[in-house]
Amino acid sequence: MRIGLIGAGRLGSTLARYWVRAGHELLLSARRREPVEELIEELGPLAVSGTPAEAAAFGEVVVLAVPLGAVAALAEELAEPVSDRVVLDATNPFPKRDGAAAERALRSPLGSFGHTAACFPQARVVKGFNTVFVATLRSRLQATDPPLALPLAGHPDGCPVVERLVRDAGLVPVVVGGPERAVLLDPGGPLWNRALDERALRAELGGG
Ligand SMILES: NC(=O)c1ccc[n+]([C@@H]2O[C@H](COP(=O)([O-])OP(=O)(O)OC[C@H]3O[C@@H](n4cnc5c(N)ncnc54)[C@H](OP(=O)(O)O)[C@@H]3O)[C@@H](O)[C@H]2O)c1
Repeated sequence: MRIGLIGAGRLGSTLARYWVRAGHELLLSARRREPVEELIEELGPLAVSGTPAEAAAFGEVVVLAVPLGAVAALAEELAEPVSDRVVLDATNPFPKRDGAAAERALRSPLGSFGHTAACFPQARVVKGFNTVFVATLRSRLQATDPPLALPLAGHPDGCPVVERLVRDAGLVPVVVGGPERAVLLDPGGPLWNRALDERALRAELGGG
């Protein structure tokens, strides 16, 4: 699969390592090219660097691994090119970092998913990977049993695509529901920062 990554910091670089290992083609982007170029060297021939616009044009899936506060400005340039794409939204709303956009997202019934979906109204937006800290992601992936489950929610046509990427990152995807359920994944919600296996996650959702 071709993946356009916007943001190549702690989360973006971690996901890039797993996805390259699984054989995906990546275009990584951020505002500063130098850290991205260093990462590209490490990742090998399946990964190239570019601008966020190039990531949007390249990816069948476009991953937002940037602060939530950056999403609206990115969407001004990228909403049109990603209109037929799956957008994987890994952002978290932190008012201290992201300001008023995060406060609005936390007050909205659709949470941070709603913020991103409003910025990219024609894309198939899926919320995921925001619930797990990078340190947990890295350490739990070294343990094999039981594997960590990762909740997803959002556009029904986008979820199956993202489920594959979750598996390719060594985790077990659990689709929690459509857009109206994505708020469960936000900070303060029952699925945020919980290192649960699939059975425990489904139990948390009331599914036994
Ligand atoms: N760290 C975690 O454990 C973790 C876990 C789950 C979810 N998240 C969420 O994932 C997102 C990224 O977190 P992180 O910890 O990876 O942050 P980070 O290490 O600070 O990396 C952020 C990345 O986004 C890029 N970026 C920032 N503003 C940008 C813009 N306007 N346009 C393009 N690229 C931009 C940064 O590069 P430049 O500054 O060069 O642009 C950098 O590559 C956040 O929303 C965070 O809440 C983080």
